[in-house]
Amino acid sequence: MKNSMYSLLSVIGARPQIIKSAAISRAIKNNYSGAVREIILHTGQHYDQNMSEIFFNELQIPKPNYNLNVGSGNHGAQTAKMIKGIEEVLLNEAPSGVILYGDTNSTLAGAIAASKLHIPIFHIEAGLRSFNKGMPEEINRIVCDHASTLLFSPTDAGIRNLIKEGFSTENEEPYTIDNPGVFHVGDVMYDNSLYFATLAEEQAPLKEYAGLNLQPGCYILATIHRDSNTDNSSRLNNIFRALLDISEKKGVDIVLPLHPRTAKMLNQNLETGLYKRVISSQMIKITQPASFFEMITLEKNALMVMTDSGGVQKESYFFKKPCLIFRPETEWIEILDSGSALLVDADYDSIMDGYVQLLEKNCEYPQIFGDGRAAEAIMEVIMRQLVSPFR
Ligand code: UD1
Repeated sequence: MKNSMYSLLSVIGARPQIIKSAAISRAIKNNYSGAVREIILHTGQHYDQNMSEIFFNELQIPKPNYNLNVGSGNHGAQTAKMIKGIEEVLLNEAPSGVILYGDTNSTLAGAIAASKLHIPIFHIEAGLRSFNKGMPEEINRIVCDHASTLLFSPTDAGIRNLIKEGFSTENEEPYTIDNPGVFHVGDVMYDNSLYFATLAEEQAPLKEYAGLNLQPGCYILATIHRDSNTDNSSRLNNIFRALLDISEKKGVDIVLPLHPRTAKMLNQNLETGLYKRVISSQMIKITQPASFFEMITLEKNALMVMTDSGGVQKESYFFKKPCLIFRPETEWIEILDSGSALLVDADYDSIMDGYVQLLEKNCEYPQIFGDGRAAEAIMEVIMRQLVSPFR
């Protein structure tokens, strides 16, 4: 393997990146295993077994070659540790290119470390913008896109955003950081959802999830993890008051796989009375974070999805489920345009009204995330870049 002609270093760290990287690892293994050596660097941003390791097993991702074990911390300290560790690995491995996913602090650290060493960056999920620079992810996306040589956008909106920032889809090879290539390729998460959908239901049957004996179409799936919701007491109280009232007044169960950040903040930020009601509720089923297979099964069979996660918004769309988004804006505006999702922010009345509105609606889900072969399309472009004599 060490003798492969090219090496690509993938930086992963947070749960959604581990999932996205599975599609690329699969495409490399299936089509370029003799030519490309993939080196996986895990920053250790997510470290709990059910936030990290479980995904490697389920999604058949090779074990990371490096784990920096950076763990939690303030954004600056966490990112700084990652930059230092990634730089050392890059100096040691001298890869032909670095693959970065999405918009987390691990993405930002990879972008800074690789660009300073003049190693080309290939950014998967480029061009997405919330136009809210208060989100750490928005800064991470902008920095990473502007340090990249190849930018792979999953959507039309992503391409339009990049063009507004001065990028062009007309640039010609050879691509460099100053003459980057911009491509609309579809979404690697859609690749994975299609690829694993059947296997997921076989290996993680709905009835067996967390011993809850869930029935298809009879529950709402909810996830909450953004710091803008978990760390803001008034927003967190509004969301949970609405969830309790929907479950009790409308008589529908709510399944809530809880991110560790949210688990910590519930006790701290919910009003005492509300906290007690939530914890003792028979209708709100709080569980450990779900595995990818469990999540797919839960999404596929839900009545509706409620979330502040970008990834869960999309997966809900892939499986044709209406979705309430606990944010004031979204990067996935095509989902809003389809009418199957509503931005309800952390507003009690909007959440209550949105639930009724989407339940009564016959939603449509046009195919806007590609054809399930985004990873293959990405790897074709990357390979052209690697073999380019001008690289
Ligand atoms: C990160 C990403 C976010 C992504 C999310 C997916 C950034 C800025 N944010 O947010 O874009 O949507 O991952 O989950 O990179 N924790 C644990 N165990 C873990 C991981 C986290 O207990 O395995 C706790 C820690 O207290 C930590 C907190 O969760 O401080 C937040 O984790 P962090 O990785 O900083 O951000 P996320 O909220 O997970």
